[in-house]
Amino acid sequence: MIPNAQRPALTDDPKIDRYRALLAQTAIFKGATQAALEDLARRLQVRTRPAGSIIVAHEDPGDAMFILVSGRAKVALFGDNGRELTLTELKPGDFFGEMSLLDDRPRSANVVAIDDVTMLMLTREAFAGHLRSHGQTAINMLGELTRRLRRADETIASLALHDVESRLTRTLERLAREDGEATDAGLLLRRRPTQQDLANMVGSCRETISRTFTSMVKRGLLVPRGRALVLTRALLDRRAAAVPA
Ligand code: CMP
Repeated sequence: MIPNAQRPALTDDPKIDRYRALLAQTAIFKGATQAALEDLARRLQVRTRPAGSIIVAHEDPGDAMFILVSGRAKVALFGDNGRELTLTELKPGDFFGEMSLLDDRPRSANVVAIDDVTMLMLTREAFAGHLRSHGQTAINMLGELTRRLRRADETIASLALHDVESRLTRTLERLAREDGEATDAGLLLRRRPTQQDLANMVGSCRETISRTFTSMVKRGLLVPRGRALVLTRALLDRRAAAVPA
């Protein structure tokens, strides 16, 4: 395998058109001019990491940011007791690692590859150089960071104010709205996460999630269908009536 440092810059990569198209669809580079995309393409490098590897480690110094091209990754914090809190899942087109470049402090969290991932990497110098000449990217990035802050606010409120069943319901509903479909029976979540993954997302432990899940299935609020899961109308109506989203 060629060490990453000796890999060619993106402009030598035969997949450049695909990466440029992907850049144009990302939240931060959406609407970017052709000149901005060309400028970025010149500055980017391609990186790959196998599933399970830590791409960015909490508390490490940071000297680059990344844009996911393929595969998923998660942003997670680990407690001393081995518990994990998953802050968010990243999919192709999402960026990460920008915080250390913006405030010059160590990495705020771990970013772990869920699948084998391919990423586009911008070094600190390349990132600063692009931002200096393309202010629209900075504005787009502020929009995305604001969206993440709102979501973090919701997570804090949820952990402080809601019980596990309510948090589990909210998490399942969000996942189903991101990757699911409305059916006659309710909202279908195509790929149900494992109970451990749900526990990490909800800020609980696997045993509690297992108990809560079983109870909700018994009460007809959730209906497992193989690897999929139906969030029934009864559950969604109850949630809509309980609290504002
Ligand atoms: P950085 O601190 O450089 O390294 C870890 C990265 O995880 C961070 O930049 C962000 O890109 C990302 N990150 C940290 N917290 C969150 C969050 N709450 N939501 C989404 N992404 C986050």
